[in-house]
Amino acid sequence: MTVTIVGSQLGDEGKGGVVDLWGDAVDVVARYQGGDNAGHTVVEDGTEYKLSLVPSGAVRGKVGVLGNGCVVNPATLFEEIDDLRERGLDPDVRVAQRAHVILPYHRVLDGIEEDVKSESDQEVGTTGRGIGPTYEDKAGRRGIRVGDLLDPELLREKLEYVVPQKQRLAEDVFGVETGEEFDIASLYEEYKRYGERLADEEMTVDSGEFLTDRIESGDQLMFEGAQGTLIDIDHGNYPYVTSSNPTAGGAATGTGLSPGVVGGGDIVGIVKAYLTRVGSGPLPTELGGVEGDTPGYDEQGEGENEELAEYIREEGGEYGTVTGRPRRVGWLDVPMLRHSARTNGFTGLAVNHIDVLSGLDEVKAAHSYDLDGDERDTVPATTERWADCEPNYRTFDGWEDVDWSHVAEEGYDAIPENARTYLEYVSDELDADIYAVGVGPGREETVVVENPLE
Ligand code: GDP
Ligand code: IMO
Ligand code: MG
Repeated sequence: MTVTIVGSQLGDEGKGGVVDLWGDAVDVVARYQGGDNAGHTVVEDGTEYKLSLVPSGAVRGKVGVLGNGCVVNPATLFEEIDDLRERGLDPDVRVAQRAHVILPYHRVLDGIEEDVKSESDQEVGTTGRGIGPTYEDKAGRRGIRVGDLLDPELLREKLEYVVPQKQRLAEDVFGVETGEEFDIASLYEEYKRYGERLADEEMTVDSGEFLTDRIESGDQLMFEGAQGTLIDIDHGNYPYVTSSNPTAGGAATGTGLSPGVVGGGDIVGIVKAYLTRVGSGPLPTELGGVEGDTPGYDEQGEGENEELAEYIREEGGEYGTVTGRPRRVGWLDVPMLRHSARTNGFTGLAVNHIDVLSGLDEVKAAHSYDLDGDERDTVPATTERWADCEPNYRTFDGWEDVDWSHVAEEGYDAIPENARTYLEYVSDELDADIYAVGVGPGREETVVVENPLE
């Protein structure tokens, strides 16, 4: 049995918490895309873990796999593993030999491209982790893979081919002076050492083979998506996207298992009860705005709903896990969720953060869009048209702030009635059952309706 956890919106929906919630019944948690641009939070007995690369099952001591679809920065991976060990965990992480490696020059190039784009207000607002440039090299067939780190001669050969190209790109095309990030000898020494540690700790695997063996031995697998559907490179609002496929199809290509294996299990959409976005790009239901990220902010300023945005941002602690940037905030966008449900085939939903909205007189959700006088119930295929969409809102009566831990203990019926009305609206529109409702950040602050693994 497998369960795939997918962000249904723009990332930060609370995926890490859901992986942890059901993690007890899981044997292996595999990430299938992305890299250390992710920031997944798990809160166990008041202790908070913010995980970037180590799969969130580590908090419960489960085996983690970084599948072939991931991009791995060994420096941050080992730092994270060492930090977690210091905190008393013992992460058992396996890394696919086919996964691509993020090198220091990828981060530099990520920064350069964003700077150049910002001159014409086209920056994406990336996390600066070198994610895009690494996937570019993968598609360009010049990337360095985890398996290459285990073979020093091959590593040197590949560095000698690729690094001078990258250096010329930085210096001759972008006119930026380069430093040690482009020095073949020091890159070789550093990355060879990472290869030695990967080998010493027997961390590398053929992920498809490893995971298939685990399934055959009766293990339960969870696939932990990073980012979200609307920042998927194919199904998101390109170019304001990440460079991988967070959507459920990515769980097959990014692990080496067949689509049948992934589709044979549950696919759970993680939904934040409102919207947040880190970085640029349209957001039709945005309340307020964030300087530098909200398009048109310089001309329009904060917008009339800034106070409400600020309230939700503070109540929800909506600041980026990786970058610390304030997240843009908006009302729930149901056309977005319909697009997401179609793309991913959700069999169930986990809706988080309903506690954050408590105490408001009313809560809104975009039910459809108005686009040039026509009503649309899903997201247009071009980002420019999406930006033209005007939300048609449904208004729900608000719900009171209650003792949410008590609600989590009592179960679904203890959720305030108006919040249940809102949840049932979402479930009906997406034709998927509610499996869990997040009422706070902690593991115990979740109403579990159904555990897909039991
Ligand atoms: P992820 O990237 O999808 O794993 O989500 P993040 O960890 O980046 O962001 C989610 C944030 O909300 C974290 O700080 C979580 O601890 C917190 N969180 C998750 N679920 C809930 C919830 O139901 N209520 C509240 N108040 N916070 C939550
Ligand atoms: P988790 O897994 C929210 C956003 C960045 C930027 C765009 C591209 O915690 O949900 P990148 O560095 O990937 O090239 O940046 O994608 N982004 C995220 N936003 N949550 C994330 O991950 C994100 N990972 C990337 O802010 O707009
Ligand atoms: Mg996050």
